[in-house]
Formats: sequence, structure tokens, C-alpha cells
Amino acid sequence: MTPPPPPYPNNAQQSGMGPGPAEAEAPPESPASGDLGANRRYYDAFAANYEAQRGNRSRGGYHDLVDELEAEFVGRFATGKDVLEVGCGTGLVLSRIARFARCARGVDLSPRMLELAREKHLDVQLASATDLPFEDNTFDVSCSFKVLAHIRDIEQALSEMTRVVRPGGYVIAEFYNPWSLRALIKRLGPAGRIAEGVDEGHVFTRYDSPVAAARLLPPQCQQVAARGVRILLPSAKLMRVPVLDQVFWRAERRLCDTALSNFGGFWIGAFQKQAP
Ligand SMILES: C[S@@+](CC[C@H](N)C(=O)[O-])C[C@H]1O[C@@H](n2cnc3c(N)ncnc32)[C@H](O)[C@@H]1O
Repeated sequence: MTPPPPPYPNNAQQSGMGPGPAEAEAPPESPASGDLGANRRYYDAFAANYEAQRGNRSRGGYHDLVDELEAEFVGRFATGKDVLEVGCGTGLVLSRIARFARCARGVDLSPRMLELAREKHLDVQLASATDLPFEDNTFDVSCSFKVLAHIRDIEQALSEMTRVVRPGGYVIAEFYNPWSLRALIKRLGPAGRIAEGVDEGHVFTRYDSPVAAARLLPPQCQQVAARGVRILLPSAKLMRVPVLDQVFWRAERRLCDTALSNFGGFWIGAFQKQAP
């Protein structure tokens, strides 16, 4: 008799990190397959808790720090411009972008995540990163945060993000970085619970180093800048400790644009689309 599959398939894929332990791919029909249906089900289940743990509940906390550093980096390229966020979720980063962009739009795969984004009066629609419902050259900037790491066909998503950007515009893409404390802790620690009966092991997750990530973009994209987020912070929980939260907030802000950005748990590259 075949033994039953483990409840939480080991789904980590890593690139640029060398072989790691147990890097088996989940079969396509498993909850962590990374196919569109699996990702949609995972984020539909996550939506209520996602919003409850972040947004106004996290002012000055871990999620606020991450979202702030992401949106601020976009602001460097997108102030007064037309911006698309791919995988906008409940709109936590998009609502910040909307403060400085001329036009801020979002797409996401999860109807439940989008319901919460619409409550913030954001211009969002249901679509997959791998098949964006926009004409070529529609936006000045496309960006994506905490999303691409969950997409098996990441090159297709990056190709779509590039297609919809005008020549001279920017693709700003965030990757989960295997060269980071965060990746180490995720590998050693238990999978976090995200809803009743669902944990982080139920979503496909890939890790791409800064070097490997830059190679995933189409050839007409040239890297022009990078930022590292969560370079020093070993645990999100430390951002709940008075004084320490301030220390980490200042340190992360000070280091995010230095060479240590290569060791951020979240590595963000800004890539300029060259004229054909
Ligand atoms: C961790 S959340 C990040 C949401 C938002 N970017 C933020 O920073 O708060 C990941 C989001 O990616 C979306 N997602 C996953 N796979 C996707 C795909 N193939 N196309 C579009 N969105 C996707 C999920 O539905 C979810 O809302």
C-alpha cells in the first residue's frame, strides 16, 4: 500500500543557493503546486487573517516596515506616473503607491483578497500575473511584492510585467532571497499558520538569489537599482518589543540601499525596459 502524502508537502525551490535538503517539487494537483487554482485557494483562505494581521493593526510594526520600504522604493521611479501592482492582494502596498502615482492599478488572482482591496477604493481587477489583461506599453512602472516567489512560471510573469511597461519604463520585482537570515529561519522553523487547517507549507514558494533573479527577466530589461528588505531582523516578533522595534526600523532603513541589500530576506530589483 502507498503511504499517504505528508500533510505539508516540502515545496521549497531554490535557485542560486546550491542544493539544499529535500527540495522536492510538489505534484501539480497538490495544494502547493503553484498552479493558479492552488494559489487562489490558499490566498482566499488567507484573506481575512492577512488583513487582520497587517494594515492598521501593524502601524510601526513588522509588516508596516516591509510595506513602507517596498512602496518607498517604487516612489523613486513612479511618482506622477502610471503604475500597475501585480498580485496587489488586499491593497496594502497599492494604497501607499496611490498616494504618489498618477494612476495606480492592481491585479490579483484571489477574489477574497480583492474584496478587501476594493473596500479601500482601489482600482483592482481579477487576473493572473502570467496573463495580464492590458495592451503592450500601458504603464510607466509595473511592480510586484511577495508574489513572484509563489509563481512556478515566474519567467512568464516577468515577461508579462515587461510587456505592459512602456520602453524606458521600469519593472520592479521582489524575490525571496536564499542568501538571507529570513530564508534560513524559514527553512529551520515550523510553517506559520495562515487559517484554520492551512499553513505556509500549502503554498508553492521559490527562492531566487539576486544573481539568479536578475537572469529571470527578459533580455530587454537592464537592472538599474536594488533594495534589500529585512536584512538584520531575525524574527518579525522582535518588532513588537518596545525600543528594539525602533532600533531595527532605523537599521533596516539605513542598510536597505547598501551592498548589504544582497542579503535582504526580500530582494527588490528595479529593471529598465530598453527601447527595441
Ligand atoms: C503575500 S500576498 C502579497 C499581497 C500584496 N502584494 C502585499 O504586499 O501585501 C501574495 C498575493 O499574490 C497573489 N497571487 C498569487 N499568485 C498569483 C498569480 N499567479 N497572479 C496574480 N496574483 C497572484 C495572491 O492572491 C496574493 O494576494
